[in-house]
Amino acid sequence: MEDRHLLISDVDGTLLGDDRALQNFAEWYGQRQDRLRLVYNSGRLVPSIIESIETTGLPAPDAIIGGVGTQIREYPSNGEIGHWPAQTQSWQPLKICDLLSEYSELEMQPAEFLADYKISYYVADAPAELLAEIRRRLEEISCPVDLIYSSHRDLDVLPRGVNKGTASAYLASYWSIPESNVFVSGDTGNDLELFNNGFRGIVVGNAHPELKSLNSDLIYQATQSHAAGVQEGLNYWFNQ
Ligand code: GLC
Repeated sequence: MEDRHLLISDVDGTLLGDDRALQNFAEWYGQRQDRLRLVYNSGRLVPSIIESIETTGLPAPDAIIGGVGTQIREYPSNGEIGHWPAQTQSWQPLKICDLLSEYSELEMQPAEFLADYKISYYVADAPAELLAEIRRRLEEISCPVDLIYSSHRDLDVLPRGVNKGTASAYLASYWSIPESNVFVSGDTGNDLELFNNGFRGIVVGNAHPELKSLNSDLIYQATQSHAAGVQEGLNYWFNQ
């Protein structure tokens, strides 16, 4: 294995979900941590991921991307890495909340899940037309956003161009790691953008259909679930 590789992985349902498999993964990673950097990339905010690192078998990472790509922090210092998100002039949370309050089918998530650059709602089985309409209406009032809908339930509203994928690309570039040396793994729709940046993708076996249907030379569909699926994918990519 050559130097400077990076694994950027989603947490819930991807690395977490099978304690035994996670333990195997942690042991495998422990033998390689001098050559493989590890980053957790979650829809949850950074403090919540830190809590999981402290209370589960998740090995200590080098950094955490939290809030669906809106936060990047070094671990364990919790210091910011670079300047991210970079472009936020057009982010106007009050205007966004105001417009979205017209939609009774959207229920705002509890305050503990919201952050400076992340407004999230629950909306069951949102049709694509609804998402397109919201995106268009926000554009009309000069509020361009990224809308990330996942798990038939979670709607994340983020500054345009900010998501799990762009945050990962920023971090890899900040660390000067070429995209071909970056592995990404996930299980639901908020991971979709991870698979659009030239990285080597791993979809775990227990993934939702929104990722299972992806078909590309840069995406390995693992048969095993959770951390075992991540490891299966890493074995595949390292043997290419
Ligand atoms: C996590 C976050 C939630 C977000 C979801 C999808 O569950 O806590 O706020 O909507 O991920 O990104």
